[in-house]
Amino acid sequence: MTYVIAQPCVDVKDRACVDECPVDCIYEGRRTLYIHPEECVDCGACEPVCPTEAIFYEDDLPQEWSDYYRANEDFFTKLGSPGGAAQVGAQDYDDDMIAKLPPQNQDYQG
Ligand code: F3S
Ligand code: F3S
Repeated sequence: MTYVIAQPCVDVKDRACVDECPVDCIYEGRRTLYIHPEECVDCGACEPVCPTEAIFYEDDLPQEWSDYYRANEDFFTKLGSPGGAAQVGAQDYDDDMIAKLPPQNQDYQG
C-alpha cells in the first residue's frame, strides 16, 4: 500500500511533504510531486502537512482522482527505485496525463 499525490499538487508543488518523509520517497517532476509506491512505508507523516490536501492513502483517493494512483506509479517507469529523492533531484518530465493538463490550481496563494 502507499500514499498518493493527487491533482491539488499540480502547478503548486509546496514541497512541505518532502521535509516530513522519513524515507525520502517523494520525488519531484516538472508540474507535481510523486510518491514512490514501493519506497513509501505508509507512515502518513506527509498527509497532514500538505496545504492543498493533495495527499491521500490509496484507499481514500477520491474517485475523480483515481488515475493519480497510476500516475504516481508510472512516473517511476523511467527512474526505477533510486532509494531517495534527494540524490536524483527534480526531474524534467511528468506522467503524460499530468503533462497534458491545462494550468491547475491557479487560485492557490502560497
Ligand atoms: Fe504537493 Fe502538497 Fe507536497 S502541494 S509538493 S503534495 S506539500
Ligand atoms: Fe513518506 Fe508520506 Fe509515505 S511521509 S513514507 S510518502 S506516507
